[in-house]
Amino acid sequence: MNFTETLHSNPIFEVIARQAAALDVRAYVIGGFVRDLILKRPSKDIDIVCIGSGIDLAEAVGRELKVPVIVFKNFGTAMLPAHADQTTYTEATETVPGSRSLGWEVEFVGARKESYRSDSRKPLVENGTLEDDQNRRDFTINAMGISLNESDFGQLLDPFGGLDDLRRKTIRTPLEPKITFSDDPLRMMRAIRFASQLGFDIEPDTFDAIIEMKDRLAIVSRERITDELNKIILSAKPSYGFKLLYHAGLLDLIFPELLALKGVETIEGKGHKDNFYHTLQVLDNVAERSDDLWLRWAALLHDIAKPATKRFDPKVGWTFHGHEDLGAKQVPGIFRQMKLPLNEKMRFVKKLVRLHLRPIALVKEQITDSALRRLLIEAGDDLEALMNLCRADITSKNYDRVKKHLANFDKVERKLRELDERDKLRNFQPVITGELIMEAFGLKPSKEVGLIKVAIREAILEGTVVNTLEAAIPFMIEEGRKMGLEPVKELPIQADQSVSHDSSSPESPQ
Ligand code: CTP
Repeated sequence: MNFTETLHSNPIFEVIARQAAALDVRAYVIGGFVRDLILKRPSKDIDIVCIGSGIDLAEAVGRELKVPVIVFKNFGTAMLPAHADQTTYTEATETVPGSRSLGWEVEFVGARKESYRSDSRKPLVENGTLEDDQNRRDFTINAMGISLNESDFGQLLDPFGGLDDLRRKTIRTPLEPKITFSDDPLRMMRAIRFASQLGFDIEPDTFDAIIEMKDRLAIVSRERITDELNKIILSAKPSYGFKLLYHAGLLDLIFPELLALKGVETIEGKGHKDNFYHTLQVLDNVAERSDDLWLRWAALLHDIAKPATKRFDPKVGWTFHGHEDLGAKQVPGIFRQMKLPLNEKMRFVKKLVRLHLRPIALVKEQITDSALRRLLIEAGDDLEALMNLCRADITSKNYDRVKKHLANFDKVERKLRELDERDKLRNFQPVITGELIMEAFGLKPSKEVGLIKVAIREAILEGTVVNTLEAAIPFMIEEGRKMGLEPVKELPIQADQSVSHDSSSPESPQ
């Protein structure tokens, strides 16, 4: 196979080839870029291996292209960042300035005999040949190189049959799997990640080695594990990756809470559904609708507290009362352990877990405007994501049942939209704030302030008070008086402080 034409289509390769020739070193494109080129997948970065100093080659290329070069002396590597302003790396020992942005990240490494590890803390000692370097890579499909040398420019160098494995859709290690996994146990996760991303099988000996060596994952940092887990979650059919993790015995090590959902208990002939497989189905359903990692995390965690809330009631069978609230409470702990961000992404997941039953409950009930309003207000900007999750949560083997449920769901969604239009309630804030209440009655932060605030909020939700200062201030005074409070000052009613609220709402008294 020859890639001459492809290499000519990106000028960067000609520059690397020219500079390598000038330095009299052989250079090759290697790894993920070659794999993705053959698979016709987009790729973000280019890895170059050269038989000599990767740093010298990178500096020469950087000089010609006038792009910055970031040098990692300890690792014997250097990198041209995709963007010129992207030059701060903690491990970098030197940055050679340059003004242009390349648009591609290009990493340079000298071929080495010892294992390639992206986070290796060990200094590199032994230089090697191209084949030495390919030997120490993770999978045959990631060990292919393309020559950038004049004698065989564009030639594929594939000593382990990576091309065949791509055709056969197989993940296989180039060496005996135990050697490859000992070099870097994260590769066990990577095998499953690539299988899930590409829809490939893992070759049986490779998979058996994962089962045998799974405990070695303990030496890998949580950040790297979670990185791979997120890539599995982001794949087109993530359930496949999770089933592989389960069968390899890795899921128990990295995500025992999810595995705890597995299994069906039967009492008096009554069973419940297997919540592990249900969750994976919900995750796949969400994946069909959205690429959002955090919505997918919400799908994974929506039933996470079912094992802890499971009860058997002889009259009604299995119940999981309160699993949505307990589940939401468990989200921060799981995020912390997984080293996932503890910011608004976590709060989004928590919110969706907490609210995931609410839209379904509306399908069953006589839908009142106030129930819809509460949901609109609580979900705020995340309503669409919540509705996506809820639709995905309707799983049943019975097609007609799913169809009926989804049709009812359409009805709820229509009503929500109508009410939202009418009330403009999304991101609702009652016009009366805690400060205004304190100012009005001369109070310090206290229980009374909270009670008045809740009363106003409830009245607005019920539709008995309009969300404007004109309507809400008299109501606030009334509520204060019920508690023996009197306003201490003349209250300003400024029209421009009132939030937009359609006062023609049929439920709102004028
Ligand atoms: N590699 C390896 N062992 C690892 C990590 C990486 O052998 N634990 C090698 C593989 O040859 C891989 C290359 O380094 O192709 C680049 O690694 P990385 O950028 O992590 O992965 P890609 O294969 O480029 O895939 P992706 O960008 O999807 O992560």
